[in-house]
Amino acid sequence: MPIKSRIRTIPDYPKKGIMFRDITTLLKDPVGFRLVIDQISQHYLEHGINFDMIVGMEARGFILGGALSYTLGKGFIPIRKPGKLPGEVIDQEYQLEYGTDKVEMHTDALEKGTRVLLVDDLLATGGTAMAGAQLVEKVGGIISDMAFIVNLPDIGGQKKLEDKGYKLFCLTEFE
Ligand code: PRP
Ligand code: ADE
Repeated sequence: MPIKSRIRTIPDYPKKGIMFRDITTLLKDPVGFRLVIDQISQHYLEHGINFDMIVGMEARGFILGGALSYTLGKGFIPIRKPGKLPGEVIDQEYQLEYGTDKVEMHTDALEKGTRVLLVDDLLATGGTAMAGAQLVEKVGGIISDMAFIVNLPDIGGQKKLEDKGYKLFCLTEFE
């Protein structure tokens, strides 16, 4: 069964009109989870895209990022929701559909010039990934690439990120 068919859609969650693409059904299937990690890992190995660290977005990006760190032999750095990291942090606000949210990263998480693969489960508006990239760049890191399981191109995140010059790899997309 392809990866896309293992992702469940829940209509009207968390709000009316949203088609929630739920990856829990993909992850609980050991074959599905392994396919995801193998296909993303292979993409980076085969295309010779170089990076030094993996940065994952809380919370679902941690599941993907942890496994990819293991298969690709890179360290993992978390970007977290506010108030969760114990050391000195920098923060970045980003737009939600209504209002704003914020993410944080340790100021000493990256050396200047570190090349980063930024990972998350899903790309919608691109606000979360853009905020993550801004944090990495604020401390002198370089975004080499971004990886997602699901892209929702109609919502515009892919265009927004590509217009800024970021490169991305997505395993599947939903309209
Ligand atoms: C979801 C998803 C991405 C983000 C994508 O996370 O896991 O991180 O939304 O949306 P965007 O491209 O419009 O920014 P959510 O904020 O729901 O947090 P969670 O991972 O903690 O559930
Ligand atoms: N995050 C933002 N939009 C989403 C969607 N439609 N499904 C799952 N996670 C999301």
